[in-house]
Amino acid sequence: MLDFGILTISDKGYRRQRRDESGKVIKGRLSALDSRVVKYEIVPDEANIIAQRLIEWADEGGVDVILTTGGTGLSQRDVTPEATLSVVDRVVPGLAEAMRAETFKLTPFAILSRAVAGVRGKCLIINLPGSSKAVQECLEVILPVIPHAVGIIKGEITEHKA
Ligand code: MTE
Repeated sequence: MLDFGILTISDKGYRRQRRDESGKVIKGRLSALDSRVVKYEIVPDEANIIAQRLIEWADEGGVDVILTTGGTGLSQRDVTPEATLSVVDRVVPGLAEAMRAETFKLTPFAILSRAVAGVRGKCLIINLPGSSKAVQECLEVILPVIPHAVGIIKGEITEHKA
């Protein structure tokens, strides 16, 4: 059983001017796994608020994986990668590299996401882009390795996967 936090990062979503479709897509996709969503919130595109929430959720101890959605692009307000990098102990470049490389085969716009992933304590934090389509595409790339990644981070798996 994996415990997930979903952090939607969107000024419009925070002000209730837009529905959180991508958060909904993540919840729907996770429901097909042996998992629970234990934290969910919409925050504005403010680096200090994003970082604070990531720290709280990771350090409380009840969340194995935080999936963020939104704020990874090139606009002035897109600060999710910087906020994430400011709180992780170690970066896990392959997750974001694979999301971009694999989904670039579906849309060239995939490489406009600056998403990052990393580990804080025993919590894996992964940025996803903001659109529900992008979320769907990227989750298919990363979900297969998440249980193994969490097992290693928590020290429950010590053997290499064949
Ligand atoms: N990745 C995939 N797989 N599919 C997409 O449609 N959209 C891109 C990109 N990543 C997209 C994607 C676009 S158009 C943008 S602007 C960036 O993600 C950043 O999105 P964000 O700022 O909402 O995080």
